[in-house]
Amino acid sequence: MLTGDDILVFGGSGSQNLTFSICKELGLSPGLGETVRFSEGTLFVRILENVRGRRVYLVQSTAFPANDNFMELLFWIDAFKRASAESVTVVMPYFSYAKGDKKDEPRVSIRARVCADAIEGAGADRVVTMDLHAPQIQGFFKIPVDDLYAMGPLCDAVTAQKLDNLMVVSPDAGFVKKARQYANRLGAPLAIGDKERIGHDETAKTLEIIGDVKGMTALLVDDIILSGGTLVNIADKLLKEGATEVYAAVTHAAMSELTLERLKDSPIKRLFVTDTIETQPVDLPDMVEVVTVAPLFAEAIKRVHLRESVSVLFQE
Ligand code: R5P
Repeated sequence: MLTGDDILVFGGSGSQNLTFSICKELGLSPGLGETVRFSEGTLFVRILENVRGRRVYLVQSTAFPANDNFMELLFWIDAFKRASAESVTVVMPYFSYAKGDKKDEPRVSIRARVCADAIEGAGADRVVTMDLHAPQIQGFFKIPVDDLYAMGPLCDAVTAQKLDNLMVVSPDAGFVKKARQYANRLGAPLAIGDKERIGHDETAKTLEIIGDVKGMTALLVDDIILSGGTLVNIADKLLKEGATEVYAAVTHAAMSELTLERLKDSPIKRLFVTDTIETQPVDLPDMVEVVTVAPLFAEAIKRVHLRESVSVLFQE
């Protein structure tokens, strides 16, 4: 049984709606706080209730705007610690800098590592996140990290469509392991795209598809959609190779105007995303179905708080 006496769930500017939904699941009211944005672009956060001795959960995705929301997250952690919270668990449904996870060219920063250090340095005790771009990013933190999967709710949404001849397609080699888990869960075969990305201009090209997609309904799965280049490019290729229809299921909808333009002209029939990101600068069109992951985060918070096992949430 959770009571508001020792647990407090706060939402940052990046995840107000998700925080509300999580709190609803938990039967709690969101914690009270305010964020002020000054004209020069700096931020100020203030907690509007007593957190002394409480175990605080702060929900904040870091996108749209990525840098502001990330800084706000750090300021919240610092504010809670300085106000004597017993612990601060950062619930970061979407970690925007997770893609900067390696030094794969000269003179670049490992941005995910810098962010992990900053989160820890600000005083976080634990991180709960979802579908990190690479699971080993957990190792950038010394504090515990729970990396939840959106696969369950996304597969439920796909199953409700009752699609025939379903074939799961990984858009690139990097997502194969997760795509295989989707395929197993949906009882569908798997195909893999051989994707090449040149430079940082968000242009992706599918060179080849490994697997026979002729006559199949393709379900593209991925951790994130940004420009949409990856999904749209492979969707075209899938149709050329004989797939009958293309659907897509993606955890993080980092969608902008450019993404929408690309999607509008693409053969993707329906795109399932989650509500890890809610501050997109565009209205999502009807072909995008948003599946909530609030129950999953609520369950994770409950289990962390009651010191119960979280691993049950990772079962495929
Ligand atoms: C790549 O490694 C990721 O999993 C996504 O495929 C990629 O970030 C999607 O980006 P975009 O939509 O810009 O192609």
